[in-house]
Amino acid sequence: MLKLSKMDVVGPYLPQTLQPGERGEAFAPSNIALCKYWGKRDTGLNLPINASLSVSLAHLGSKTTITPATGAEDQVCLNGDLLAADSRFATKVVDFVDLFRGDLNQPLRIETHNNIPTAAGLASSASGFAALMLALDDFYQLKLEPPVLSAFARMGSGSASRSVFEGFVEWQMGHRDDGMDSHAFQLSARWPGLRIGLVKVATGEKKVDSRAGMQRTVESAHLYQSWPLQAAADLEKLHQAILAQDFALLGETAEQNALSMHATMIASWPPLLYWQPDSVAAMHKVWQLRAEGLALYFTMDAGPNLKLLFEAEDQAAIEQQFPDLEVVNPFPAG
Ligand code: DP6
Repeated sequence: MLKLSKMDVVGPYLPQTLQPGERGEAFAPSNIALCKYWGKRDTGLNLPINASLSVSLAHLGSKTTITPATGAEDQVCLNGDLLAADSRFATKVVDFVDLFRGDLNQPLRIETHNNIPTAAGLASSASGFAALMLALDDFYQLKLEPPVLSAFARMGSGSASRSVFEGFVEWQMGHRDDGMDSHAFQLSARWPGLRIGLVKVATGEKKVDSRAGMQRTVESAHLYQSWPLQAAADLEKLHQAILAQDFALLGETAEQNALSMHATMIASWPPLLYWQPDSVAAMHKVWQLRAEGLALYFTMDAGPNLKLLFEAEDQAAIEQQFPDLEVVNPFPAG
């Protein structure tokens, strides 16, 4: 297969002469996958082995502002702090910005604010790269179409392709070498009663990030062979669940999908187990409450924290059981 660089892919979409404005600004929500993205067929462009489906977290996410820098160097700020140019975050941001600024080489100040409660242990790369892409589109007045914005955000971080949209979002895997058909789109269905609860087990940098984790799984877990089939079947079930507003089907599918993904990680070598004892305790608590009749399910990403899925009518009962729960309404009115 022909391997293209990110620059090869972006180039044809840029105008001959860039027209930077005074300021570019954008917000993008974080998202939680109900059918997970796990495994890449192209690690450079972040092209996935399977399609995925998520729900965006409304007002929780990242806001990015781009302005011309006052000095000769780029300035990258995170939550109000100016970062060292060689820090991991600043390098990733500048590498992404380099794809778009062409020969202009104009130094920029890029400020990102995450309002995701750090205590919730949610990854911010999805909302971060989506907001950065949207802010670049605004700053350079590129006026790119949403599928293109999503495909480009994907090159920053796969899950960022979904954070370009609100509500339920599907990321189709695509088949093209340049990946331009591997982008997300918003589903028209809404689910106003759906709630997501963030259970914090642990925060802090993980030893193995998603990128390295999925690579290890693809390369070393025989169990991974079954993952694309599982994901395709789950995607279909989630479509049915969303169409029929069948919460039990949604919850069961999302929970089984997450546990299947974790099973492939555990079957990797060296083994990859993101769970902490408190993660397992929380899983048992969910299963116990469900056995007692509460419609409560969970999903988990490449980390120890659980994301609970339930409906608004059960919120009070669930908050009683999980006192520190951060509850998100992904479909606020208006
Ligand atoms: C488990 O999007 O963070 O959260 O493409 O390497 O940046 P990169 O990975 P990333 O992986 C997210 C994995 C996941 C599942 C999901 O969000 O679909």
